[in-house]
Amino acid sequence: MLTKRTQMAMPTIDTTHIQEAAALLKAGKLVAFPTETVYGLGADARNPQAIANIFLAKQRPYTHPLIVHIAQPNQLTDWARDVPAAALTLAKAFWPGPLTLILKKQPHVSDLLTGNQDTIGLRIPKHPVATALLQAFGGAIAAPSANRFTHLSPTSADAVRDELGDKVDLILEGGYCEVGIESTILDMSRDQPTILRPGMISAAQIEAVLKKAVSSALQNAPRAPGMHHLHYAPDTQVVLVDSVATFLPTLTNDDLPLAFLVRKHVEFQGSEVNWIVMSDEPSQYAHDLYLTLRQLDGQGFKKIAVLCVPDSREWDAIRDRLGKAQSKEG
Ligand code: TXA
Ligand code: MG
Repeated sequence: MLTKRTQMAMPTIDTTHIQEAAALLKAGKLVAFPTETVYGLGADARNPQAIANIFLAKQRPYTHPLIVHIAQPNQLTDWARDVPAAALTLAKAFWPGPLTLILKKQPHVSDLLTGNQDTIGLRIPKHPVATALLQAFGGAIAAPSANRFTHLSPTSADAVRDELGDKVDLILEGGYCEVGIESTILDMSRDQPTILRPGMISAAQIEAVLKKAVSSALQNAPRAPGMHHLHYAPDTQVVLVDSVATFLPTLTNDDLPLAFLVRKHVEFQGSEVNWIVMSDEPSQYAHDLYLTLRQLDGQGFKKIAVLCVPDSREWDAIRDRLGKAQSKEG
């Protein structure tokens, strides 16, 4: 199941499907589509009824705002006002790509998109199918990740089918998502640029472009994405482990059979521990993470143990997602 990021086949674009998907969006229907991060559950961002149906399909509370996906930087001011120059600089540097900018919203923007806040999340995704869909549709597409609320984000079309089944009118195929975890969310509506959700565009990369420090609201922003304790969790209980050597002797029958995600081969005789050697490199690890957790879920493991990842900034986003996966009980 683990695919190399570098070996992924470029998905072929089925123009008929794209046209069909664009027509469905125009008719107020829901279309799931691939992005480079995870699959999105899309609706016409100017159609409040269609947007409301996203919340129903995902069983997501209305207080959680959605990201609006656009095709061109010049659409930014259709949705955002008072856009700071620094936000345009970031858009130029990172779009299309896995960065969502939070900006002050235009007055027309539906409260459903913003969770009743004065801000809107915007990004240009980098996936040929998403690009083709946005171009064929011609407007903006509101899209959260295409999973049921509290579940893992889907990184393949099959995962979307498992999550949403017939709640979605069409699922566009686009292979495995290259990045594999959700976009970095950067709030540019405050005086100090603030990361609300870390992603594979790192704080260091953003700081290098802005030539100033960014802060992180991970501890104290109640509305911040993924702050809900049940976000991004598989059904099987996930346990984070500091050391393989100290954890193994503590195993009891309540833990076995166990799946164990590590980053290098471990010598251990015991048929009830299923070792999964993840990459030692953050981009590949991120690419494989949800695929692996989703594959392990439902295989009868009592727990999924995960060896903690390094404390360095390049692992921030993965550490964040592992923490969220762990916070779900049972
Ligand atoms: O990579 C991604 O961002 C994917 C793909 C499909 O683009 N989308 C995604 O959407 O992860 P979602 O809805 O699962 O997560 C988006 C997060 C939400 O948790 C929401 O709270 C936050 O973005 N968000 C959206 N608008 C916001 C705003 N105005 N202020 C603060 N947070 C916002
Ligand atoms: Mg989500």
